[in-house]
Amino acid sequence: MLAIAVARYMEEAEKESSWIRRMFEQGLKLKQEYGAENVADFSIGNPDLEPPPEFIEALKKHASDKGIHRYMPNAGFVDVRAKVAAWLRKEYKIDFGYEHVTMTIGAAGAMNIVLKTILNRGEEVIIFEPYFCEYKFYVENHYGKPVVVKTTDNFEFDFDSLNEKINKKTRAIIVNSPNNPTGKVYSDRELKKLSKFLEEKQNELGSTIYVLSDEPYREIVFDCKSQSITSFYNNSFMVYSWSKSLGVAGERIGYVATNPEIDDKRIFEKLAFSTRILGFVNAPALLQKAVADVLGIKVDVNIYKKRKEIISKGLRKAGYEFFEPQGTFYFFPKSPIPDELEFIRKASEKLVLLTPGIGFGRKGHFRISYTVGERTIELGLERMQELINGV
Ligand SMILES: Cc1ncc(COP(=O)(O)O)c(C=O)c1O
Repeated sequence: MLAIAVARYMEEAEKESSWIRRMFEQGLKLKQEYGAENVADFSIGNPDLEPPPEFIEALKKHASDKGIHRYMPNAGFVDVRAKVAAWLRKEYKIDFGYEHVTMTIGAAGAMNIVLKTILNRGEEVIIFEPYFCEYKFYVENHYGKPVVVKTTDNFEFDFDSLNEKINKKTRAIIVNSPNNPTGKVYSDRELKKLSKFLEEKQNELGSTIYVLSDEPYREIVFDCKSQSITSFYNNSFMVYSWSKSLGVAGERIGYVATNPEIDDKRIFEKLAFSTRILGFVNAPALLQKAVADVLGIKVDVNIYKKRKEIISKGLRKAGYEFFEPQGTFYFFPKSPIPDELEFIRKASEKLVLLTPGIGFGRKGHFRISYTVGERTIELGLERMQELINGV
């Protein structure tokens, strides 16, 4: 028999995130056994709302455009980048031109081309916990070292902890607002305070500290506006994808908008080179053309808002402790027993699937993703009430 040879890193990395696979497999098994309609699957953050009709029309319209399906500049079509830049100029009052916009394979592709462009081997990237679990892998893909900094009980920046972890090797920090898994939307005040802190640190350390502002949930907000730290901090990248705003996560389309005031202006073209050498080559041609036609159009966020309100009411009535989300489609409540893995196991016995806080770097919590219909939500809430009564 042939030896199976996979890189050691792959074995290790997969072990660390094996709970994702376990949960997915368990979900499939339960659905097969009990019927999908009887399982409240709150585990996967897969946007379930269909894309707006304008987007489908744009896809159809551009499918027969002559010459668009070929290779193109690695950063994407110039006309598409110009439209995105013009839209961003209006929304954020930042002087973006087409040359500052690189079209990408979603936010995930965007994060990877930025990290490829800025990281030297062994340099550190700060991520705040609780964090989107893929960040660690993205940093390690480019031989960087993820450094986890805790946030407060209310998920605010903890400047003392940040100060302890920041040093000459810190090359970047990742800010995710609206936040997965907490649903927190950072305020103007918090983002300005962080910017000022980082400006001072850059001066003190004599080095560049970049901010990657990961904003794929920007439009999924309730009664507030999502601000971008790129409005306050020059050495910054705005990372975006249409996965959530248009409900097209499978189509893989997004961008990086690099702050025009960034210190090292070589970055703009280096991002295009990273797109090429990582093997992405360019973002999907048809998708670029389609999204450029529907800038500002989004799924009906009121549907998410209504679901959020139902869950909020249900969890409160049941006696769960939780932070009231201001955006995204997640809740990140405290587990009613300290060991959230045990709680999640009990929940799955009642056919409710949740994600453990440990996967986001914060134990004692669990994540609810409400990319499911109201009937499933009601079903899940009833069982979560029974669960808390039983502990
Ligand atoms: C915080 C965060 N960043 C990035 C991504 C990746 O987004 P995309 O699938 O659009 O590349 C996700 C996806 O869920 C996310 O939650």
